Amino acid sequence: MRGPAVEIRWKALAAAAVGGALLLSGCGGGDDDKGGGDASQVEVFSWWTGPGEADGLNAMKADFEKKNPGTKFVNAAIAGGSGTQAQAVLASRLQNRKPPDSFQGHAGAELLDYIKQGQIEPLDSFYADNNLRQAYPPQLLEQISYQGKIYSVPVNIHRSNMLWYNPKIVKDAGLSGPPTSVAEFITALKAVKDKTGKVPLSLGAQWTADHLLESVLLGDLGTDAYNALWKPGADWSGPAVTKALTDFAEIMKYTTAEAASTDWQGASKAVVDGKAAFNIMGDWAYGYFTGSAPNGLGKKDGTDFKYAASPGTDGTYMWLSDSFTLPKGAPHRGGAIAWLKVAGSKEGQDLFNPKKGSIPARKDADKSLYKGYLEYALNEWNKPGIKLAGSFWHGVYASKRWHADIDAAVGLFLQSKDVGKLQSALVTAAKNNAQ
Ligand code: GAL
Repeated sequence: MRGPAVEIRWKALAAAAVGGALLLSGCGGGDDDKGGGDASQVEVFSWWTGPGEADGLNAMKADFEKKNPGTKFVNAAIAGGSGTQAQAVLASRLQNRKPPDSFQGHAGAELLDYIKQGQIEPLDSFYADNNLRQAYPPQLLEQISYQGKIYSVPVNIHRSNMLWYNPKIVKDAGLSGPPTSVAEFITALKAVKDKTGKVPLSLGAQWTADHLLESVLLGDLGTDAYNALWKPGADWSGPAVTKALTDFAEIMKYTTAEAASTDWQGASKAVVDGKAAFNIMGDWAYGYFTGSAPNGLGKKDGTDFKYAASPGTDGTYMWLSDSFTLPKGAPHRGGAIAWLKVAGSKEGQDLFNPKKGSIPARKDADKSLYKGYLEYALNEWNKPGIKLAGSFWHGVYASKRWHADIDAAVGLFLQSKDVGKLQSALVTAAKNNAQ
């Protein structure tokens, strides 16, 4: 599915960012991942409870139950988009040595944290037994490897830098199409406000502002400078970052008030309900928009909503990948291995991804199942010349501590609206965490 061009881009990315670090140092673990162990049940931990997310998980669960009739599937998902609450619960379970049998972890820096803390097992025998190495792009394997060992089973590739918009409101605002730069975006937001009285940009809980921030940084700085922010010694204090943060502050003036009670679903839904013109959200929004009732909204691409790369980021795929792990001390190891088999299979991924709004992590998926936006996403992913950037909010570039430090800085900014303070907090966060 992926041609050599994409593989080369992956390689450059991995060398430039986290993948390099993943290969360098760390701790090992046993190789007892061949199966065996209690298979009476499997407790699978994720944050896919809400509309649009739960459907994908349920599709894989059904496949699992069909293939493993003797194993009870315990869905331990904890609500909260982007895992804000789930990750706190998971951290305390891991610390108290009460791990689930398998948990969701993002490829990249986030996974490296679990590996370095000795919380997950390497899966090399499992990969060998299931012929998985050849199923994935080698450069994705680098993002989940450490000292040459593989630590998780990726199920998908999501795109974070997506703009979802309501075509009618955009037209009513007198705009000819979606904005293609951050400057155009700000003009468009003003036009929506002045001419339509609708919400220019919908936003939800605080993490959706963090998510917006990564798209604004990418759109203003460009791919190379954005990617450079996450390398050791990166300088966040320069004028280009000041400009991006000033634009972020300006854009935030056109959002709904930060509402902890509204998660991404509420913010994205405002667009298809004709209440808001724009929403910047990962492509899990597509699964939610087009999925069927009761969870999905059953909306039509092209009429109820349209999409484009977030302003200024066309030609760059800001990616993230959900993967599943085998925690050390998993109580139902046999169940966990059976789950990872489904998560790593072509069939499992082709059931999961069309509902989830993501493209498969495997190279051999059945392309005909990916329609509408997902066909576009597969084409973009494979397009010669497409650039890659890692989502910091969704685990690729920032460790959990850096992620938390940025979130704290954004939280303070939402109160103070002080760009200078935001930038110095981000400079400090980079100094404390970039390595
Ligand atoms: C991301 C995750 C996606 C989706 C999203 C919104 O972190 O990778 O699969 O769940 O959060 O909750």
